[in-house]
Amino acid sequence: MRKRFVIANWKMNGNLAQNNAFIEEMKQLKLSNSQQNKVSETEVVICPPSPYLFQLSQAFVNVPIRVGAQNVNQNAKGAFTGEISCDMLWDFNCQYVIIGHSERRALYHETNELTAEKIIQVLTAGMTPILCIGESEAEREHGHTERVLAMQLHAVPSNVLKQCIIAYEPVWAIGTGKAATPEMANATHAFIRSQLPDASQSILYGGSVTAQNATALFSMPEIDGALVGGASLSASQFYQIIQAAA
Ligand code: PGA
Repeated sequence: MRKRFVIANWKMNGNLAQNNAFIEEMKQLKLSNSQQNKVSETEVVICPPSPYLFQLSQAFVNVPIRVGAQNVNQNAKGAFTGEISCDMLWDFNCQYVIIGHSERRALYHETNELTAEKIIQVLTAGMTPILCIGESEAEREHGHTERVLAMQLHAVPSNVLKQCIIAYEPVWAIGTGKAATPEMANATHAFIRSQLPDASQSILYGGSVTAQNATALFSMPEIDGALVGGASLSASQFYQIIQAAA
C-alpha cells in the first residue's frame, strides 16, 4: 500500500510565539480526538522556516509529527554565504526536505538540473526529498502539462527519482484559492505515476488544499496526501486536513 502524507509548508511565516500557539493547539487536538489510531497511519510533517526547525523538532519529540525543511543547498559545506547544508538539517532531526518548489524555481531561478543535484545531496544525507513539480496556467492552456511534468521528473536519474516523494503542485493553484478539481488532479497524478520508476511511490497534491476540499481530493485513488501551504498555518485547519487523510 502507498504511504499517505500530510505535509505543511509554512513558507516564510510564523515566529516563536505563533509557533508555540500552533504547537499547543495541535497537542490538544491530538489528545481529544478518537480517530487517533487512524490518523497515526498518516505521516504528518511540518516544514517551518529553518530558524524554527529546532523549536519544532523539540516540540514534537513524543508526538508522531516529523519535521522537514523547505530548501537546502546542493553542496555539502563551504563558502556559500547564507546557505544551509543537509548535515545542518540532520542535526535538527529533519527527515524530509522540499525540493524544487515552484516559488524556488520562479523567484530564485532554480532549474531542473539544480533540483536534481539537491535531491542527490538530500538522499546522501539520509533524508527524504519531496520533489515538487507542476505546470503554469499558460502551459496547461497550451496542452503542455504532460511534457512539462515529464521534463521535471526525468531531469532526475531514475534510481534517484524512485526514492522521492512527488508533490504535484500546479503553479496556478498555489496560494490562489483555485485548487485543481479532484478529477483533474487525479488524472494528472495517473500520468505522473506512469512516468515514475516505482508504482508504489507516493504522489501528493498541493495547491489551495483546505479543510473544505481535502476529503474530496483524498477520495481520489491516485492522490496519496497533500502538501499544504496557507491552510497549514492554522492548527485546526491543518488537523482537519490530517483527519481527512485518515
Ligand atoms: P497553498 O500552497 O496551499 O497556499 O496553495 C501550497 C504550496 O505552495 O506548497
